[in-house]
Amino acid sequence: MDVAPLGPGFAAELRGVTLADVASDDAIYAAARAAFEEHSVLVFRGQEVIDELQLAFSRRFGPPEVTKVGSQGTGTHFVILNTIGPDGKVVPPDHRIALRNKANQLWHTDSSFKRVPALTSILSARIIPARGGETEFVSTRLAFERLDASLREKLENSFAWHDYAHSRSQITADLASPEERAALPPQCWRMVWKNPAHGRGAIYLASHAYAVEGMEPAAGKKLIDEMMAAATAPGTSYLHQWRSGDVVMWDNRATMHRGRPWPAHEARLMVRTTISATEADGVDSMRLPSSQAAE
Ligand code: OGA
Ligand code: MN
Repeated sequence: MDVAPLGPGFAAELRGVTLADVASDDAIYAAARAAFEEHSVLVFRGQEVIDELQLAFSRRFGPPEVTKVGSQGTGTHFVILNTIGPDGKVVPPDHRIALRNKANQLWHTDSSFKRVPALTSILSARIIPARGGETEFVSTRLAFERLDASLREKLENSFAWHDYAHSRSQITADLASPEERAALPPQCWRMVWKNPAHGRGAIYLASHAYAVEGMEPAAGKKLIDEMMAAATAPGTSYLHQWRSGDVVMWDNRATMHRGRPWPAHEARLMVRTTISATEADGVDSMRLPSSQAAE
């Protein structure tokens, strides 16, 4: 297995290894897992991309999420990102499906709005538009390490509130449905996720974050905006241009990502599996200690 660096200080392509190798071989899984902890984004090219194999590969890393209400694939282990409506045609730009794609184009990390956040997401491309439709990544670990020491310490001791309805409201007010709002109450997470594998911390934020615990709303929002800007500074991203047979996985604890636009009339179909974070991944230290909770 070869590890070929791809991005500015993070992201790597794993060569000479298939999804099936990782799914079936403990030593290969251990090597892929080590590369994941270090590089945060892993690209596999030329893969045979089928649902069962993607899920078997994904399960190696932990328990798969069950897709939430309101997403295509609800109740299964797959999230379908699609621009094709029930009639088999590409939806118009004002369709709910298109607006949800637009929300995915805000910088975010997956599942920070869930009771159990995600360790990793695994995404495969099934239909790729001729132009655009890339996925862009930044390292929130490298961003954290660029901050000065006093700000790092402040963030390590701060907690932010994340809400799915908040990120959706940036596209249109009612994009999150009443069912989604009921199923996904706001969650509070430490603003730095320390990876137990090596102790390095990363800014943990997303388009879902709207407030900082114990801070005035405006001051909290300002801190979130500043840290989002620091994490997504120009020149620090890796842009993944999809080719048929690509599978990309990322560490939701240490990166943010966003989809990039593509011509509205073109189809795009992606399939995602998502693995929940467990105690071994450091999730317990992310929760607000109950003595600090205001509500
Ligand atoms: C995702 C996501 C972006 C894209 O699958 O979680 O944000 O480019 N995808 O499809
Ligand atoms: Mn995402």
